[in-house]
Amino acid sequence: MMIQTKPELPETGPELIQIGQTLTQALRSGLIRNQDTSLIFYDLTFLEQRIQRLTASFPPETLHGLAVKACPLARILKWTSRINQSVGVEAASAGEVMLALNCGFSPDRIVYDSPVKTREEIAFTLGKGIRINIDNLQELERIHDYIKRQGAGWKPKSSIGLRINPQVGLGSILESSVAGEYSKFGVPIRSRKQEIEKAFLTHEWLIGLHLHVGSQGCPVSMLVDGTGVLYDFMLEVNEKRMHRGFAPLSVFDIGGGLPVSYHPGSNPPVIEDYVDRIRQRAPGLFSDSFAPGADPESPEQEKNNAARSRVQLITEFGRWTFTNAGWTVSRVEYVKDDPLVKTAMLHVGADLFVRECLNPRDWQHEYAVFDAAGHLKSGVDVKPYNLAGPLCFSGDIIAREVQLPEVAEGDFLVIRDTGSYTYSMWSRYNSRQTPRIVGYYEEGARFEILRERETPEKTTTFWE
Ligand SMILES: Cc1ncc(COP(=O)(O)O)c(C=O)c1O
Repeated sequence: MMIQTKPELPETGPELIQIGQTLTQALRSGLIRNQDTSLIFYDLTFLEQRIQRLTASFPPETLHGLAVKACPLARILKWTSRINQSVGVEAASAGEVMLALNCGFSPDRIVYDSPVKTREEIAFTLGKGIRINIDNLQELERIHDYIKRQGAGWKPKSSIGLRINPQVGLGSILESSVAGEYSKFGVPIRSRKQEIEKAFLTHEWLIGLHLHVGSQGCPVSMLVDGTGVLYDFMLEVNEKRMHRGFAPLSVFDIGGGLPVSYHPGSNPPVIEDYVDRIRQRAPGLFSDSFAPGADPESPEQEKNNAARSRVQLITEFGRWTFTNAGWTVSRVEYVKDDPLVKTAMLHVGADLFVRECLNPRDWQHEYAVFDAAGHLKSGVDVKPYNLAGPLCFSGDIIAREVQLPEVAEGDFLVIRDTGSYTYSMWSRYNSRQTPRIVGYYEEGARFEILRERETPEKTTTFWE
């Protein structure tokens, strides 16, 4: 059994003191210009540690398909494609596949997961040898047709898997939970078990299982249950496949979904513990482990061993990889004073924080205020603050009634843990310019511009 040593690495992103140092450095070095009314920062030292920790937690031959939808910045993707060969990407659309190819990922490091793949996209993916997870049984038929059309003896270079909904329940956030009784994703294991089994016993090229339980809000026990359901299915179906002379399944994609901390004291799961729990529930997925207490000679263990030597694990972590590495800063343009509440008028709102504005109950961050020179402000103002964005609708408020130090025009309002599902969800509403995005190492000792602030001329081309 492999002994995991738990690294002393933080479960949360950069501390306020580090954010302050970085902000001051960025101001001093002229990185925050007049027109930079808002910026997004990425702590690349932290991000590198996250990726190292991810790859160290799983067996070395695991492919880590970082979810592009969480953070599609080309500079970051190019960098990750170089730092570790076991890092790949999970792409949710043909556009994300193209982005990944452009950023240097070879086809076998790309996992294409769209639920609405066209025939053309399927042909492109299979032609290139990009890994693919089929979302539904109709798509399975399309792929079967494509393979038949290539002629007898043609074998796909791509690994082809089927997304199965393990139906283990919904997490605390409905819109990002996808393993309930009903889900728009995947084929449900209970009501469609016969058809699923038939697919694996008809098509030898169908070699993989894929699941994704949800994103944030799903407890580790639920994520592990999902893997367990598919693991049991794999053992069952492998025996039947072997009877037919088919190779056993060789790819097991556990999806993403590991929750992160957005608030102090939230006690997020520790990835090494998560992996230990999967190892206990599905030992055959790990080449170096036996179920605790299991007899290595038992038929059950033999089954696990038979499965393990052939299975490649894939993960698809987006939020866990990127969220805590990023923070956003906006200049405070105005402060409005109403009888019960003050409103800080910011340069980011629902354009960058669509989920936070539409569903503030489930999506909230921590905030901090720095003065115009980048010094952290302290104390608590007598009135709470609404943090309002610049967009033209009244719901453009990223947080309501938060306790903050007294905020003044020209201050910097920092929004923490914004490294995922923020810039990737940018809205074009009101034609505002996307912010400058800056990476840094060692608390601002070294900066790198990851993406320039958009010019108004560039913004207008979107509508042409
Ligand atoms: C299929 C699939 N894989 C991976 C992810 C990434 O999830 P997370 O960012 O929570 O790790 C998602 C996001 O919802 C997804 O839909």
